[in-house]
Amino acid sequence: LGAYLSIVAAASYEIISSFEANYNLSSFPRNFLFGTASSSYQFEGAYLADGKGLSNWDTFSHTPGNIVDGSNGDIAVDHYHLYLKDVELMEYLGINTYRFSISWARILPKGRFGNVNFAGIKHYDKFINSLIEKGIQPFVSLTHYDMPQELEDRYGGWLSPQIQKDFAYYASICFKYYGDRVKYWVTINEPNVAAIRGYRSGIYPPARCSASFGNCSSGDSEREPFIVAHNMILSHSAALNLYRSKYQDKQKGNIGIAINAVWYEPFSNSSHDKLAAQRALSFYMNWILDPIILGHYPKEMKDILGCLLPEFSDDDLKNGLDFIGINHYTSFYAKDCLHSKCVQGPGITKTEGYYLRTAIKNNIPIGEPTAVDWLYVYPEGMEKTLTYLKNRYNNTPMFITENGFGVMNQPDSSIYSLLNDDKRVEYMTSYLDALVSAIRQGADVRGYIAWSFLDNFEWSSGYTIRFGLYHVDYKTLKRTPKSSAKWYKHFLPHNEPIS
Ligand code: NOJ
Repeated sequence: LGAYLSIVAAASYEIISSFEANYNLSSFPRNFLFGTASSSYQFEGAYLADGKGLSNWDTFSHTPGNIVDGSNGDIAVDHYHLYLKDVELMEYLGINTYRFSISWARILPKGRFGNVNFAGIKHYDKFINSLIEKGIQPFVSLTHYDMPQELEDRYGGWLSPQIQKDFAYYASICFKYYGDRVKYWVTINEPNVAAIRGYRSGIYPPARCSASFGNCSSGDSEREPFIVAHNMILSHSAALNLYRSKYQDKQKGNIGIAINAVWYEPFSNSSHDKLAAQRALSFYMNWILDPIILGHYPKEMKDILGCLLPEFSDDDLKNGLDFIGINHYTSFYAKDCLHSKCVQGPGITKTEGYYLRTAIKNNIPIGEPTAVDWLYVYPEGMEKTLTYLKNRYNNTPMFITENGFGVMNQPDSSIYSLLNDDKRVEYMTSYLDALVSAIRQGADVRGYIAWSFLDNFEWSSGYTIRFGLYHVDYKTLKRTPKSSAKWYKHFLPHNEPIS
């Protein structure tokens, strides 16, 4: 692989030939889905159009100091208005699936406490039809970090069990209006990240944080991330049970959840560090997946957290899920902190599972560092995550619902360097290579969805990080294909020679 990657780095044309030499479309199972991803708040803009209610992200991004560049998603990349043009770009790429999320506050501006907004219903109806006309399967998330602000104000959003009813109600509306055409549903995007960033580090709404972080507006207990995740798991379950009992027979769709999956390598060969890496995986991704698939929280979590961890009652969890959505980008080392002294420092953080997280060992990073501080290029992490999940969950079908490469949008970034994104092509090529290895080892992976279709609003980082296969000029909103878009197009079935 090393030699191959050095060829890849050379130039786009060589990338394509070396890419094809390693593996090609026939290395993937039949009917494999290839796509690009997006989310409502990061893409749509139109934040008050056609009766939309305010979302928690509208409120949060409008509060000074929350977004590094002072920006927000009011306009974002205006996908709400430009969607027909965007579908043409998707057609150009040759993707056969497109992942997006529905804005909850567009459908139910006040959640259960108000009316359905039919202008919002109509918008996604037209969008879904336009995708289907081009042979692109909609892959739809019901919530991607956003929810009506009303639910936050009324009862504290995900902190309250009341959210389960609201979420199921919202899901039922989406199933009812779109389920005839949408066959892949993600209930909740990255519950693990939403719980940690919204309720521990406080860098996402509702900006609550535990005492150990101490830096945000509302201080609270160590317990909140676990309560929130618990309510998310139960909300997933409520939506799924409703689908099974009311819609499944007719609509025959698949329902999953998308977790953020960071791979953890043990810092050393010591048994303590190996256990620390297990704990890290459990406290991050198994936290969400174990209850849904196995019916209980991971043992490591119960042992360490005791009564901080909520409990399920017997019939809380049934039906599980149809697929695991995996958002995988990066890997870290985990170092034991239960038996040895652990010193925190820049880039080395202790988490509640009592392990230290670091990307550096003996001054060498786990993979090539990138301009994005949490992103290290370690394709082995993709292969290991997939084989780990395959073994832990009896080879439940999986989709890579996100994988991608971000670059910083420096004031002096030249358009030339942004468009000639060979590093992104190199990244995606090596991660696809790792994906193929996992498939060859029997992992039941059914799709790969790249993050992201267009450059967009990267949450607390605003517009400072670009993840798109298409460049967006934020002043004119013009979309321009980067080398990665041309490379992806060339790889996909409906390709034409690259020009
Ligand atoms: C995962 C999130 O789902 C997505 O919204 C975000 O932009 C990417 N990670 C990149 O950070």
